Parts: sequence; structure tokens; C-alpha cells
Amino acid sequence: MRIIAASNYEEMSARAAEIFVAQVTLKPDSVLGLATGSTPVGTYQRMAEAYRAGKVSFAACRTVNLDEYVGLGPGDSQSYHEFMWENLFSHIDVKPEHTNLPDGKNLDAVAECARYDALIAALGSIDLQILGIGHNGHIAFNEPSDHFVAGTHMVELDAQTIEANQRFFERREDVPTTAYTMGMAPILQARQVLLLVSGEAKAEILRRSLTGPITPEVPASILQLHPNLVVIADDAARKWLT
Ligand code: GLP
Repeated sequence: MRIIAASNYEEMSARAAEIFVAQVTLKPDSVLGLATGSTPVGTYQRMAEAYRAGKVSFAACRTVNLDEYVGLGPGDSQSYHEFMWENLFSHIDVKPEHTNLPDGKNLDAVAECARYDALIAALGSIDLQILGIGHNGHIAFNEPSDHFVAGTHMVELDAQTIEANQRFFERREDVPTTAYTMGMAPILQARQVLLLVSGEAKAEILRRSLTGPITPEVPASILQLHPNLVVIADDAARKWLT
């Protein structure tokens, strides 16, 4: 594990974007594993800036996202699909047909999870996977549980997760309670994992994830087993790391 110390959110985002640009420069047809949430937004802005400045092209990249709310999809403003278009895809030259998310509109969970696992397998290993972390230690939507799940699955979201995600919705009742999420296997098989953590509110869960026991009760703790994990954390998030 390598921990890159950033002074604040901006520096964390700049360092993460540099790693993405380097990855795509070295391997233009990279498979990029992408995440949603507030944490990667600054990284995506800087990736788009690098594209506009002519420093990088994503035209040969393929992307695969971690998760999507069940019931939401293209056209729904709160869907992760729309989030990715708003925050990244429409600002770079990635080909729409090269972008992939779980289909939240497919209510046949068994079929959708099987489709997404087959799609991930067909893409081959993810070259670079970006991750944020939930306040309860979730990565993607792998919520605390008594076991780790390898493949794509449908999850009931934690009350804490629903509360945290409420800020993106007008009313609490509007926040979806279930989601499709990539499982742990493709994340652990990614060639490089980039975990971004910003802010004091994430300091305790970051400490537990990186220095505590590896347990499905803290899903991100499994990242300790990854051979090429890079954590970029700002000063506030590193408060409890010694
Ligand atoms: C969501 C996403 C996660 C993300 C987490 C943290 O639940 N499914 O992939 O890491 O929230 O979000 P934020 O970065 O906004 O704190």
C-alpha cells in the first residue's frame, strides 16, 4: 500500500487525475473503473481539463462503473448514469458505447447481475479502479455484512448510506433503497486501485479500513489485500493515521 499525502481536496484531485492521465498515456486502451459520489468529482474535472488541453485522449478507453440505483437510469437526474455524463463523459472524448454501468432499469436482478459480470469478464482486468469510501466503510455499494460478495449483486442500502445520499434528492422518500453493485472480485483483480479520501468525517473509517482487521463489517478493509493499492488522502482524512 502506498499513501499519498495531499493537503486538501484540490491536491488530492490533482494527484489522482495525474495518475489517470499517466495510465491512459501509457495504455490508451485502458479499462478504467469509475466511481460516483462527491469524492471523485474534482478528479474528473481535472481529467477533462487535461483532455481539453490536448494532453490525453480517452477515445480508446473503455469504462466500467461500480454501481447504480435500482429503478434509476438514463434520463433520471439522480441516476449514476446521469452523474457520469454530467461530471465526466460529456467533457471528454470517451465513446458512449465504451461506457458501462449496471442497468438500474432492469428489475430482473438475476439477469442484470449476470449481464454485468459477463460484461466485466469480457473487458478483462480493470487497469485502474478509482474508489471513494462510505462513512460505514462501504466501497461501491458493498455494505457492511457478515460476508464479502465476489460478483455483482443487488443490495439493500444501509440506513446510514441512505441518509448520506439524501443530499442529492429532494425528499428522503425519493432516495432509492436498493442498488446494483459490482462485487469485490473485479475490484481486487484491478491492476491498480486508487482510493480517494477527503475530510475529517472519513478519518475514523479510513483508519479502521487500513489499520484494523480485514472484515466484511468494514468492507474497505479488504483493500489491505490488494497488491497495488494507492490511497490519496488529505490532511483531514489522515487525522487518525500514524
Ligand atoms: C456512494 C457510492 C460510493 C461512494 C460513496 C461515498 O454511496 N456508491 O461509490 O464511494 O457514496 O460518497 P462520497 O464520495 O460522496 O462521500
